[in-house]
Amino acid sequence: MKFLKKIKLASLLTVAATVSANAQGTQPVNADLNKNGKTEPYENISLPISQRVEDLLSRLSTEDKINLVLGTGMIGFEQITGFEAIDPPMEDKSFMLPGAAGSTYPLKKFGLPAVIMTDGPAGVRIMPTRKNSDKTFYATGFPTGISLASTWDQELTQQVGKALGDEALEYGSDIQLAPALNIMRNPLCGRNYEYFSEDPVVSGKIAAAITLGIQHKGVGVSLKHFAANNSERNRMGLNVHVSARTLREIYLRGFKIAVKESNPKTIMSSYNLINGTYTSADRGLLTDILRNEWGFKGLVMTDWFGGYSSGINLVNDGAISLKENYTAQQIHAGNDLIMPGTRMQIANLKADIKNGKLSEKDLDICVRRVLEMIFNSPKMQGYQYSDSPDLKAHALLTRQVAAEGMVLLKNEQKALPLNSLQKNLAIFGSISYKMIAGGTGSGDVNKAYTVSLIQGLENAGYSINGKLDNIYRKFVEKEESDLKTKLNKDPFMLIPLMPQPQLKESLIRESANTCDAAIITIGRSSGEMEDRPLEGDYYLTQDEHNLINNVSEVFHQAGKKVIVIVNTGGIIETTGWSDKADAVLFSWLPGQEGGNSIADVISGKVNPSGKLAMTIPVKYEDLSTARNFQGTPIDKPTDITYSEGVYVGYRYFDTFNIKPAYEFGYGLSYTTFSFSNIKISSENFKEELYITVNVKNTGNTAGKEVAQLYLSAPKGAIDKPEKELKAFIKTKLLQPGETQTVYFRLSPKDLASFNEQQCSWIADGGTYKVLIGNSSRGIQQTSSFTLSDDRIIEKVNNVIIPDIKFTDLRP
Ligand code: BGC
Repeated sequence: MKFLKKIKLASLLTVAATVSANAQGTQPVNADLNKNGKTEPYENISLPISQRVEDLLSRLSTEDKINLVLGTGMIGFEQITGFEAIDPPMEDKSFMLPGAAGSTYPLKKFGLPAVIMTDGPAGVRIMPTRKNSDKTFYATGFPTGISLASTWDQELTQQVGKALGDEALEYGSDIQLAPALNIMRNPLCGRNYEYFSEDPVVSGKIAAAITLGIQHKGVGVSLKHFAANNSERNRMGLNVHVSARTLREIYLRGFKIAVKESNPKTIMSSYNLINGTYTSADRGLLTDILRNEWGFKGLVMTDWFGGYSSGINLVNDGAISLKENYTAQQIHAGNDLIMPGTRMQIANLKADIKNGKLSEKDLDICVRRVLEMIFNSPKMQGYQYSDSPDLKAHALLTRQVAAEGMVLLKNEQKALPLNSLQKNLAIFGSISYKMIAGGTGSGDVNKAYTVSLIQGLENAGYSINGKLDNIYRKFVEKEESDLKTKLNKDPFMLIPLMPQPQLKESLIRESANTCDAAIITIGRSSGEMEDRPLEGDYYLTQDEHNLINNVSEVFHQAGKKVIVIVNTGGIIETTGWSDKADAVLFSWLPGQEGGNSIADVISGKVNPSGKLAMTIPVKYEDLSTARNFQGTPIDKPTDITYSEGVYVGYRYFDTFNIKPAYEFGYGLSYTTFSFSNIKISSENFKEELYITVNVKNTGNTAGKEVAQLYLSAPKGAIDKPEKELKAFIKTKLLQPGETQTVYFRLSPKDLASFNEQQCSWIADGGTYKVLIGNSSRGIQQTSSFTLSDDRIIEKVNNVIIPDIKFTDLRP
């Protein structure tokens, strides 16, 4: 019961807020002011925003300022959250953006609108229907983060960002709470589907691309969750113990890249603590590192009811205990906006200012950033949104991108693509009939439809074995309706695994005789607030094993191929069953067009070019984080120690010589590529270095390849991973025989590791090996250069040091 309460409460925090917004678009701030015929500087749109902000700031009372740093949202959930969230003072409550996650507090007397924030990484999360309206407000269900990252294509991801930004803009949102770029530290994290990679360079580059896209017409992003939110259990009360080196090299690096390359408007601090301090109250993280070192100019907001700010604490079995008030500490830390604020916090902040716990100066710094965000928002600038984004165009893009993110792991004797004679298919696995387009929680999107695999294949002209179709459809329908009943009772439960119907062997045999090939889909749903279990999730269930065994035995006897599609938001174990399949395709959670996208790959309309953004181990225990992912105590973790240090993912497998099932960066194509003619601009590194390599399509089908550049650094004062990804480039579509020369640039920071003793990024003098190929273990071209002496690249602040004693893993 308590457990259920925890799920419900935390879920409500993510899904059900309704915030105010002017559905027609707000007039520019100066339009309805000037009541006394005078334009104040803050109203004057010809002045720079910074000047207007300063003017307005000077006119605000302390009460106004407090209102501005406490956002709104979650109204109506007092009985569950335990306190009154702030209700915006809108005269006309019919002006709403239902389903948005929150907003800033509107100050009507100064013409400040409520700036609206919507989730999430895979689409604009709003309610699809509204009272008294026949119109629908569906949003595109884009491919999830894991799918986007697997494209390794920054240009294409930027296009997705643009479409997502346009949709947010046209539905009247100002800030899209995306992208989510926490590191996939372990495959069991429930939110990996929203994240990108085990590697910070992939995470940072993909996040930067999406950010550039979303922000292109003025909607802002919120990079989240800053930082080290790498598991979901007890996420609001989990203390992550991590060394300064590991934090900087692995968990902060992607954020740093995205901040530097794409100038995000906002960042969301995470729920967890790092080394004893909530991230939202950590001045070292939010001011010393983020602003002073990286030059971040935007606003930081909390995750919803994050940190001890609002006094909410789910550590105790989901029971809400009001804790000490730390809002002042968050403001001092540089967490500008508390999302959403509560009535209790208004009173607390007033008292804190009075008793000197919070200085007006600190408050002003945050208010200034809130005002800058508001002034720069589409709403404030009077954007007239249409409520009619181009859903058709976005669906086409979704279909294309999802296909480009699919990773072909196995393709024996060219089982795929199906040839023109293989038109009759036997389709197995419940999920073939019920595609999982996205994950659960705040990252879920209210989309108009999802194309199932069956529909996708039928659209592509395949015929599906009718008897199987009949059995599965009935089975899935029944399961779905049972699920609906359960969901009605508890609308926030995670979607349980879809079971498999029992099939008679004679039916499988009959389908093998009449069909040209078999396709089996294995699917998993996952989401916020829970991590995935090992049994029956990471590992296949016995029913799923039986299905793969039985189908492959019968189809292989009949001389027919078996293709397994994996429709999941993360990796699953493959070694125990992949030898039974001729082809294995990871489709991830591919968004609303999923079935069409898979059919495009199966038919060969799209040549797969996705690559794994994470390692698939032979067995779970091979992971460096297998032993400590759960945290302690096991049943309700309050502490977790990242004692594997920087050896996460391929950094661990390659340094410690452990053979994975499929390595980081791996993915097959229907054609083949060769890499040749590596050239390096100099053998001695001075300030930068250029490297070129030729990528040639050596097969018979047009296709794209990902050129991945890894560096192997010399041993210096500290241990280093065997190799680390520094850059990657996706080629254009290369015709058979065509060659593309790709260019890489290395800068000093690419050579550096973080030296804790010296609190600096240091590039050690010596020889650096350059390794280029199409996976972390598929190196095809090598070269080297030397750096004459050790070089301090950047001296940084000695902050966020561990609060307990532990040693990082070393080779
Ligand atoms: C999630 C965030 C989300 C927020 C608002 C939180 O529970 O962690 O990712 O943006 O809710 O819905």
